[in-house]
Amino acid sequence: MKRIAVFASGNGSNFQALVENANDVYEVVLLICDCNDSYVIQRANKLGIKSFIFNPKNFDYESMLLNKLNEYKVDYIALAGYMRIIGPVLLKAFPNKIINIHPSLLPAFKGKDAILQAFKYGVRITGVTVHYVESGIDTGKIIEQMPMSIKEKMTYKEVEMEIHKVEHTLYPKVLTKLLREDS
Ligand code: GRF
Repeated sequence: MKRIAVFASGNGSNFQALVENANDVYEVVLLICDCNDSYVIQRANKLGIKSFIFNPKNFDYESMLLNKLNEYKVDYIALAGYMRIIGPVLLKAFPNKIINIHPSLLPAFKGKDAILQAFKYGVRITGVTVHYVESGIDTGKIIEQMPMSIKEKMTYKEVEMEIHKVEHTLYPKVLTKLLREDS
C-alpha cells in the first residue's frame, strides 16, 4: 500500500476524489496546504484526513515539509491545484514520485487558468493531463491524457464542470495504475 500526500491550495475537489477513490493500492495519509482559509482544509477535516498547513513565507519551508512527509512515511506526492513551484529539496527527495494534474492537453495551455485559456482560444478539443513534476511549470513527462470535446454551444461554466468531472475519474485511476506497477 502506497502512502500519498496531496498538496493543494484551494477548493480541493481533486483531493476529495483521490481520498474517496483510495483502494488496496494507495491511501491518502496527509493534506499539505499553503493557505489557512482554503476550502480543501474543511474537506480534509470532514474526510478524516490529517492536514498540515504551512506559511510559505517561512524560510526554507520545503525542508519543513520534507520532515512532515518523512514523519508520515509518504511514498508519493500528488499535486492537486497546488499553486506553488516544487523546489529542489522535494524534487531531490521524491525523484519521479511527484505527480500533477493539469486541466488541458499539455503542452497546450500551460500555467494558470488553463480551462479559460482553452475556452477563449476556441479549441474544439481540450482535456486533462497527468504528468510527472520537474523544475519547470507543467513540463514533466506525460503519464496519461484524456481528451474532451468543447461543443459549439457550451458555456465556460459547462466546460469547466466537464473538465473537473474528467479529472475526478482520471486522477485516481492513473495513480492506481502507476502505483500498482511500482509495487
Ligand atoms: C484542477 O483543475 C487541477 O487540474 C488544477 O487545479 C484545479 C484544482 O481544482 N491543477 P480543485 O482544487 O481540485 O477543485
